[in-house]
Amino acid sequence: MTLISLPESRAEAEALDACDPLAPCRDAFALPEGVTYLVGHSLGPATKGALSALRRASEGAWMADRVGAWNSADWIHLPDRVGARLSAILGAQPDEVSLCDSVSVNLFKLAAAALPLARSRRLVVEEDEFPTDQYILEGLAGLNGAECVRVPPGQGAARLEGGVLVKSLVNFRSAELADMAAHEASARACGGLVVWDLSHASGVLDIELAKQGALLAAGCTYKYLNGGPGAPAFIYAHRELAPELTSPLPGWMGHAHPFEFSSAYTPKPGAARFAAGTPPILSLAALDGALDVFDGVSMQHVQAKARALGQMCLMMAEGMGLDIASPQDPERRGGHVSLCHPDGYPLVRALSDWGIEADFRTPHTIRFGLSPLFLGYAEIWDAMTELAEIVETRSWDTEAYRERAIVT
Ligand SMILES: Cc1ncc(COP(=O)(O)O)c(C=O)c1O
Repeated sequence: MTLISLPESRAEAEALDACDPLAPCRDAFALPEGVTYLVGHSLGPATKGALSALRRASEGAWMADRVGAWNSADWIHLPDRVGARLSAILGAQPDEVSLCDSVSVNLFKLAAAALPLARSRRLVVEEDEFPTDQYILEGLAGLNGAECVRVPPGQGAARLEGGVLVKSLVNFRSAELADMAAHEASARACGGLVVWDLSHASGVLDIELAKQGALLAAGCTYKYLNGGPGAPAFIYAHRELAPELTSPLPGWMGHAHPFEFSSAYTPKPGAARFAAGTPPILSLAALDGALDVFDGVSMQHVQAKARALGQMCLMMAEGMGLDIASPQDPERRGGHVSLCHPDGYPLVRALSDWGIEADFRTPHTIRFGLSPLFLGYAEIWDAMTELAEIVETRSWDTEAYRERAIVT
């Protein structure tokens, strides 16, 4: 593990920036001056690479070649080409990752495909899991007669009983990191399977899917991977398991030869079998361009910096008397930190007026996303110093700041 010692002054934070191997990545982002963007765990900012790839796909290939671009720009293979690039970031093989649909839909497909291979027809989810994961499992159980069991936080592996567990590697609220290898070992021991939700982990942690023994996973590309709003999700299926998996939504794009228009269904090899309909090419092109920023970057460095920035935040928040809702041990944490404040929402709104963008999860959670590719140590030092001032002066305490927007 790469360890970074924490700065105890702004000068020390500046010194860390000066020797940070990831500092040059900041230039790849189209971020406005004066904004400290702490919401990369929700929607990553635009990168220059994503914007120009989007222009190439729209004003270039689409305008110039119309339907011909499916061949001339090789759009037809774009989900798998982007999947192969992403596989390097996730620690998987190129054919094990593809892009399609949303995380919600991909979790549905994976859980449905895993169930016939599991010892029992039990779908397990923890009570503090991201809501979509819970809804999807309940919906699936309603369709196929499996049992959907909600268990207390942290009990998923122990209560698996040979079923299928859907589990976030990093909890969306607390940022608590699950032990992937231990979960996989428990699942194997009882004849069950784990479907990982990597939404809050991909692009910020060194996940090493193969090394950790993961078999099935899905995750977001619009958070730390900066693919853009509504960018398609990825789906991962281990090479050895993929041939045994049957998608419950076998659309024509998951067919090995879609343009043969055959009535008989033959799935594609690898994770690509989980494609259903026509891929969203413009979104995929933007994601492809966004991944440029990861070229040549070590995910170990990314993870170490995210944790060091998070540790700085927690250390400074503790000094302000704020309640901490994330694990203090950096090795048990993902890329964001959560603080609790009874007036968390107006506080987040006030911070935004100071150019510091964070987010809020009801009822009291403030989340700071520490995206290591565009944030710096001195920047976080300044943001936390400003937070201290806002807390101290109660400048958040106005009616206007309490008014809730639809998206928080
Ligand atoms: C942990 C987690 N899982 C699933 C989702 C839902 O993803 P999608 O909207 O792509 O279905 C999110 C969205 O933020 C999430 O944070």
